[in-house]
Amino acid sequence: MFDSSLKNGASKQKALRACLAFGLGAAMLHGTAGAQEGVPYAGVTEPHAAVQPSNEQLVSPAIERKIDALLKQMTLEEKLGQLVQYGDSGEAAVAELGGAAQQPGKNPETHVKIDVMNLAATGRLGSMLNVVGAERTNSYQHAAVEKSRLHIPLIFGADILHGYRTVYPIPLGLAATFDPELVTAVSHISAAEATTAGVRWFYSPMVDISRDPRWGRTQEGAGEDAYLGAAMARAYIRGYQGNDLSQPDTVAASVKHFAAYGAAEAGREYNTTDMSLSRLRQVYLPPYKAAVEAGAATMMSAFNALNGVPATANSFLLKDVLRNEWGFDGFVVSDYTAVMELRNHGIAQDAATAARKAFLAGVDVDMMSHYYDAELPAQIRSGRVPMAAVNEAVRRVLRVKFALGVFEHPYAQGTEVTAAVAEHRPLVRKAAEESLVLLQNKAFNGASPVLPLSGTAAKIALIGPLADDTAEMIGAWGITKRDPDVVTVRDALEARAKQTGGAVLYAEGTKISGDSEDGFAAAVDAAKQADVVVIALGESCEMSGEAGSRARLDLPGNQEKLLEEVAATGRPIVLLVFSGRPLVLDWAANHVQAIVESWFPGTEAGNAIANVLYGDVAPSGKLPMSFPRAVGQEPLYYNQFPTGRPPFDTDLTKTPTFATRFVSRYIDAPNDALFPFGYGLSYTEFAFSDMNLSAAKVPLHEAQQENGHKLITAAATVKNTGNRAATEVVQCYVRNLGASLEQPVRSLQGFTRVTLQPGESKKVSFELGFAELSFFDNAGRSVIEPTHYTVWIGGSSLATEHADFDVTP
Ligand code: BGC
Repeated sequence: MFDSSLKNGASKQKALRACLAFGLGAAMLHGTAGAQEGVPYAGVTEPHAAVQPSNEQLVSPAIERKIDALLKQMTLEEKLGQLVQYGDSGEAAVAELGGAAQQPGKNPETHVKIDVMNLAATGRLGSMLNVVGAERTNSYQHAAVEKSRLHIPLIFGADILHGYRTVYPIPLGLAATFDPELVTAVSHISAAEATTAGVRWFYSPMVDISRDPRWGRTQEGAGEDAYLGAAMARAYIRGYQGNDLSQPDTVAASVKHFAAYGAAEAGREYNTTDMSLSRLRQVYLPPYKAAVEAGAATMMSAFNALNGVPATANSFLLKDVLRNEWGFDGFVVSDYTAVMELRNHGIAQDAATAARKAFLAGVDVDMMSHYYDAELPAQIRSGRVPMAAVNEAVRRVLRVKFALGVFEHPYAQGTEVTAAVAEHRPLVRKAAEESLVLLQNKAFNGASPVLPLSGTAAKIALIGPLADDTAEMIGAWGITKRDPDVVTVRDALEARAKQTGGAVLYAEGTKISGDSEDGFAAAVDAAKQADVVVIALGESCEMSGEAGSRARLDLPGNQEKLLEEVAATGRPIVLLVFSGRPLVLDWAANHVQAIVESWFPGTEAGNAIANVLYGDVAPSGKLPMSFPRAVGQEPLYYNQFPTGRPPFDTDLTKTPTFATRFVSRYIDAPNDALFPFGYGLSYTEFAFSDMNLSAAKVPLHEAQQENGHKLITAAATVKNTGNRAATEVVQCYVRNLGASLEQPVRSLQGFTRVTLQPGESKKVSFELGFAELSFFDNAGRSVIEPTHYTVWIGGSSLATEHADFDVTP
């Protein structure tokens, strides 16, 4: 397919790109079923000849030559083998779904038994999912490499989202660090650990933007904001893939779930999404794009439909945007049985159609549906699926395998990591410390704020179902977790008490769910005897994550009742909230002194929390998602569009009168978040001043150049006005007024962590260019118009220091 005589260097890459875009692209478009099946938007983009490879390593001429040689030898069965993936349970979805349309309530069932070892040994298997451990991976790899005709190795993919054995906070917690370098560092250690068990492919990062915490998978992502989401996406890719995929301690990333899965209506899992092209491009696509630009090797197609076309059969997403516009050179794997589920979506009445639609739309690998191997041969024979498309998909899979170096080193390498690694604990602990968000810290009895606890705190009542539960510190995707490695809050506080001579009075109080009040009395009793109460409440890991949607966002079970009874003792209270999402903490905010959002912090949970509670570390986490006052406010996010009837300065805590009713508001709750995006306190205070911009005007012709050139420098001074050193996440927000499309009331366009000694100040600046100032119109173009901009710099999305400039015609 490729001219192997091409010279090295950029021109070669360009030629390769052009060949890919026009040669193969055109071949695929000519399939009789057509790649155009399922185009949701008019005006499909043409392949961009000029688009650069997303990852030069994947399209290296040396690799392409090896692939050409292999492709020539492969039978159709062997080719399709590369395009299927199974676990080692032997289960696969059944080719005949048993009339899902007639049984709409039924989940896909797995009643075909697959002899996976046999498939591996006969070259009919490309990859495996969630098979971990050197012994397990090596046994399948031996079959593939030693027994199969062409000796093509498998790759083992696994859902490692926030640590392999040494587990760090859930991704939502990591996002709260606003610290991409740290995310890169911890991601690298999880890759280094997992590769010793044969895993060279992570189904991570999950970069779906979520503006609705009812959606349980909120916990797997970076929250509600596209800019933060993109920064986190890049950070994960760097950490997993490094600079060179062939290094033994790297893994290929699978960016998921493409696309807009996080916009599931009403936060209900697997639900549909429907939105304007502008919103798709502006809010949902940026993190995926950032991941592709950072070189992500693979992408996972999502379960949801987007504007009526399931993402797994969506050629607009998978071809027009991902391949042709972004130049993605890796492969796309479907989500688990997502190819089969096209039938439940109602766009395929049989397995053959489902397989064909997914494949022609650009899904290269079928995870678990057992449709590509069962159905595509007949589709190819009948000419409905062109052989060129099969070769292209196989090429994409083999590229990743060659780039990973698994042909040379197919087996698990190094000493297998089977437990949390001591040397990794400090970094994982730092990540947990930075992820904690201090939501509230009030004084008790007019004294100083309750936190930090005094080093000599005599008696702590430690209460709650999450105070001493190792398993619940890990988060929903801890498939390789090891509970014994986890330090709980109880472990850590008791260790402190031993050092300081204090005491910990522990009482579980209640369970996470359930209504028994049997433990209440002991908890209240402990509180009465204590100087301070630390109460650990929240969700279980299982209440978020996949299929963890909730219609209520309160503390589950009778935990709030327990909190009320403990609060009635009149003792000062520190509430630790463990959750995979923002919860409604209205009652708590009105009745307890201190609240620390702790997410699920991982292996070092207790130590990190103790370090922050005692003030060894000043909290610096900021919310990546807004915390509502009531579930009915959802979806609630800071960067909303304006309305024609904003409430301006109406007091929305008051019941509306005729004069205050006819504005965009609720009659029974304020509009704003209880704790908004970007918010988080520390043990000091920061003040912002001297906001200024480098220019008051930017000519339109200059602003419209998409060359990465920066147009405006926004700067402000941040000062630590308190009496201890701490880190502030300085944030820059932008509003664009007067554009042809409504623009959000403000959007994050920069952030940086700044550590300041007491009294110290620092000038912080942000460079704003086309990327930060443009918006997407509904034709999918990013544009800048002659409009008015306001820029804010501050410590949350409520920042008040601002300055203005115009883009002039
Ligand atoms: C999830 C994915 C996951 C896959 C494989 C699916 O159900 O949606 O996020 O990677 O399973 O375990």
